[in-house]
Amino acid sequence: MIEYFTEEGSAKAVNARMGDTVNPRLRTIMASLIEHLHGFIKDVELTEPEWETAIDFLTRTGQICSEHRQEFILLSDTLGVSMLVDAINARRPQGATENTVFGPFHVDGAPIREMGETISLDEKGESCLYEGRVLDLQGNAIEGAMLDVWSDNIDGYYDVQQPDLQPKWNNRGRFVTGADGCYSFRGIKPVSYPIPDDGPVGQMLALLGRHPWRPAHMHFMLTALGYQRVVTHTFAVGDEYLTSDTVFGVKASLLQTFEHNKSGATQWKAEFDFVLVPG
Ligand code: BEZ
Ligand code: FE
Repeated sequence: MIEYFTEEGSAKAVNARMGDTVNPRLRTIMASLIEHLHGFIKDVELTEPEWETAIDFLTRTGQICSEHRQEFILLSDTLGVSMLVDAINARRPQGATENTVFGPFHVDGAPIREMGETISLDEKGESCLYEGRVLDLQGNAIEGAMLDVWSDNIDGYYDVQQPDLQPKWNNRGRFVTGADGCYSFRGIKPVSYPIPDDGPVGQMLALLGRHPWRPAHMHFMLTALGYQRVVTHTFAVGDEYLTSDTVFGVKASLLQTFEHNKSGATQWKAEFDFVLVPG
C-alpha cells in the first residue's frame, strides 16, 4: 500500500524512501536523525516563523565560516555536542588522563623546543613553569611522547587571532620526553577568555542568558607510539568560570593548582602528570 505523508507517520514516510543499497551505518544514523528531528518538531509544535528563524540561523552560521572561523564547531561546542561525542569515543580506564574539547585554535607544526624552553615569545603575562611526567597506567615513564601545547596570551587571545599583534607561534610549542618521561617548559599563567561571540553562536548564547567565557586553561595534545592520543587541557584552580565553561570542557581530573615558584625562576609553577592508555 502507498504510504503518503501524514503528520503522524511523517518520519516513517521519509525513512521509507531510503534505497535498499544504502550504507548500513548511514541508514542507522539517518533513520534515527529523522525520527528525533520529527519528534522534536512535534514536541514543540514548531511554528512557521520559528522554522524560518532556524533556517536563517543556520544560513548565517554557514556564511560566517571561513578559513579562520568554524562557527558550526562553535555551535557544537556550546550545545555540549563536541564533549558528548568525545565522551563516547574516548572512554578510558580509571587513572588515565581524560580528554576535553579540542577547540579551534590548534595549529599543526608548532616549533619543537628543548625541555625547559619558553613558549612565551612576547614575554607578556605572569611567567609559569609547567612540569610533570608522561606515564603509562602502571606508572612507568613513556619515552618519546610528544606534548603539543598552546595557550592564549595575557589579553585572552591566541596568536592566530592577532597575527599583527603577536609573534607567530606565541604561546605554542612541542616537546618530546626523554627516558625519564619528564617534561618542563615555561609559559604564562593562562587567563579566562570569551569564545568568539560576534556571530550567530554569540547571539544564541545571549538569547539563552549564557555567557561566552571559558575558564583559564593550558591546551595539551599528547601523542606517543603505541598509545591513544590525548587531547586535553589543564584548568586553573580558582578560576571564576570553572563551573560554567561555555563549552562544558571542565573535568575534575583536569584541575591544576598554580603555586608561587619558590626558586624565583618564574612567578608560578604548575605540575601535572599525564597517564596514557595503550592503543
Ligand atoms: C579553546 O579552548 O581554545 C576553545 C574551545 C572551544 C571553543 C572555542 C575555543
Ligand atoms: Fe583555549
